[in-house]
Amino acid sequence: MGSGLTTAYDQDTLRSVIREWKAEGLRTALVPTMGALHDGHLELVRRGVQIADRVVVTVFVNPKQFAANEDLDKYPNDISADKTMLESVGADLVYVPNNDEMYPTGFSCVVSLKGPASVGLEDKYRPQFFDGVTTVVAKLFNQASCDYAMFGEKDFQQLAVVSQMVRDLNIATTIVPVETVREPSGLAMASRNAYLSEKELALAPSIYNFAKQTAANINDGMNPKEAADATAQKLTDLGFRVDYVEARNANTLDYVKNNNEPMRILTAAWLGKTRLIDNIGV
Ligand code: PAJ
Repeated sequence: MGSGLTTAYDQDTLRSVIREWKAEGLRTALVPTMGALHDGHLELVRRGVQIADRVVVTVFVNPKQFAANEDLDKYPNDISADKTMLESVGADLVYVPNNDEMYPTGFSCVVSLKGPASVGLEDKYRPQFFDGVTTVVAKLFNQASCDYAMFGEKDFQQLAVVSQMVRDLNIATTIVPVETVREPSGLAMASRNAYLSEKELALAPSIYNFAKQTAANINDGMNPKEAADATAQKLTDLGFRVDYVEARNANTLDYVKNNNEPMRILTAAWLGKTRLIDNIGV
């Protein structure tokens, strides 16, 4: 653990701090976030503290991964609360670039993947999303050059896409997956949970509870597609607007062909104006 939390607003400062750590032989871990931190994010930091000597957290609400009709303008942010939390778990550096620092006038590059970024899950419902994610994450990886980068299983397809990008582009950062952190109710922690009304908060854990039931049904021999479709119907009956409930191969994210494959149940569903995603292993 380092000695207190420093803030960098520009990539030159970020690079020079990390260069010094590397010169001392210290191992570094990167935790990319969009801020509005909760215990899920902090778990990534805690794991980073375990495997590295210095942990760098980035806080940047990346406009490129939001479509025009999405929640960029109201995305929650409270950098001073974020810093207090980061300090409490032993993060060493928080990088808070502004839009001009990340996307100066004339910025022209798009990092775009096929493979796990075109399997008909998040990519189908948020077509601009992964190009925005891979472009910003590639930049953050280049700016920070950390040994490790922590990503949550909560965003399972994002984890697969970023891992594929690192393999394809030979980026010298090892991706470390971190299990989803949940509320006591089972609801996966998410910055967007702040949008939920009390009534919606009471319904939201059904995504997880039904997914567990789906997994149990598949383990009992039920056809994965039928099990997932039945769950989608149950969520719809409760008042969710379901984008998808799918049983997919946990490695490729392709459709499953039989019950013996490693499987993941992935769900995306709206409650009112809030879109929730979650996934579990079978
Ligand atoms: P954000 O939604 O802020 O999430 C940052 C990281 O925290 C991601 O790796 C995400 O999977 C992880 N995370 C979020 N909720 C979690 C939970 N309940 N348990 C465990 N991990 C959780 O994902 C993004 O930001 C952005 O797309 C980003 C990668 C920063 C690129 O802009």
